[in-house]
Amino acid sequence: MQRNIIYLLRPLLSATEKVGSCSSNRLIHTTRHVRSHENPLGIPRRNPNPAPTIPRRGAPPRKSRIKGVKQIVVVASGKGGVGKSTVAANLAISLLHNSPLTKSPKIGLLDLDIFGPSIPKLMGLENAGDPNLSEENKLIPLQNHGIKTMSIGYLLPPNPANDSPVVWRGMMVMKAVQQLLFDVDWKSSQNEDLDVLVIDMPPGTGDVQLSLGQLVDVDGAVIVSTPQDVALIDARKGVGMFNKVSVPMIGLLLNMSHFTCTSCTTPHELFGSSKNFEKAAEQLSLEVLGKIPLVPSISDGGDSGRPITVQNNSEGEEIRNIMNNVSEKVWNWLSSRKISDIGTRG
Ligand SMILES: Nc1ncnc2c1ncn2[C@@H]1O[C@H](COP(=O)(O)OP(=O)(O)OP(=O)(O)O)[C@@H](O)[C@H]1O
Ligand SMILES: [Mg+2]
Repeated sequence: MQRNIIYLLRPLLSATEKVGSCSSNRLIHTTRHVRSHENPLGIPRRNPNPAPTIPRRGAPPRKSRIKGVKQIVVVASGKGGVGKSTVAANLAISLLHNSPLTKSPKIGLLDLDIFGPSIPKLMGLENAGDPNLSEENKLIPLQNHGIKTMSIGYLLPPNPANDSPVVWRGMMVMKAVQQLLFDVDWKSSQNEDLDVLVIDMPPGTGDVQLSLGQLVDVDGAVIVSTPQDVALIDARKGVGMFNKVSVPMIGLLLNMSHFTCTSCTTPHELFGSSKNFEKAAEQLSLEVLGKIPLVPSISDGGDSGRPITVQNNSEGEEIRNIMNNVSEKVWNWLSSRKISDIGTRG
């Protein structure tokens, strides 16, 4: 039986506040103790196998696999607003529709952006309610378009104006990231593992990126950039940071490469020439996985919770082909990776 977890991030909790549940009408009692710095998501404790933490001194943390997940791909960039979340959502869907596996793959999408979660909106799950809890007190992903997803956005209190930010200090953010990494039940009801978990990273090269790289055995990173120098500089930093924590690079993806206006067929490189991007890829010895143009239907698809890769309109065909090529390259990369014998946590 599943239990419901709800409104865990209410800013103020009385000592024994009762919290109602939407779907099962079961009440759970939270306490100040339950939602502490050690447990920012307020997940009731199980916990025979607690999430690993980063030791403050001494030996570096040990990387682990995430329980219930076979392979992990992160979508990142040092820069904000370049389309990471949009790419992550569309990549997850393309991996689902374009798999070399004999049976339909199981794909998940984890939003690690604590301050600006986008996945609930992009995947049409903004009003999907709260995640349930498994018997082991793990968060059960919410699913749409065939993809299992988890985001801190599902755990925020309802707020019609969507204007309540998470205001947390570093330690609390780090702990929330660890809970999102290791306290989610990704296995299917038939007890099958996810084939691929796509992780949507927040912008920057800070604590979240570092923790992920140090705690989790990631199979590969896709770095997204737009053509401007200012974005490429940060993308290079993203590559450098993942190199430092031994996260292998799958390649670079150029987003918003050009815009083709409806009245002419000339592509306009609004944000600068893609040559700079190609040069950067060459200098970093990284493959260019694809170039995605600036297309209003990509943005509209995200805003409506129906990413362009689930649609079948003619405007989206070019983008779906590009994303299919990208997902093919990612599948090839993953199949060439030996599944490591590193331990599993979660
Ligand atoms: N190729 C594209 N064509 C048109 N719009 C796009 C394209 N890629 C992304 N967008 C739009 O750009 C905006 C920013 O995209 P997105 O939220 O995915 O970026 P991000 O890198 O995840 O941002 P953040 O750093 O804040 O997490 C969104 O409105 C999205 O719809
Ligand atoms: Mg984002």
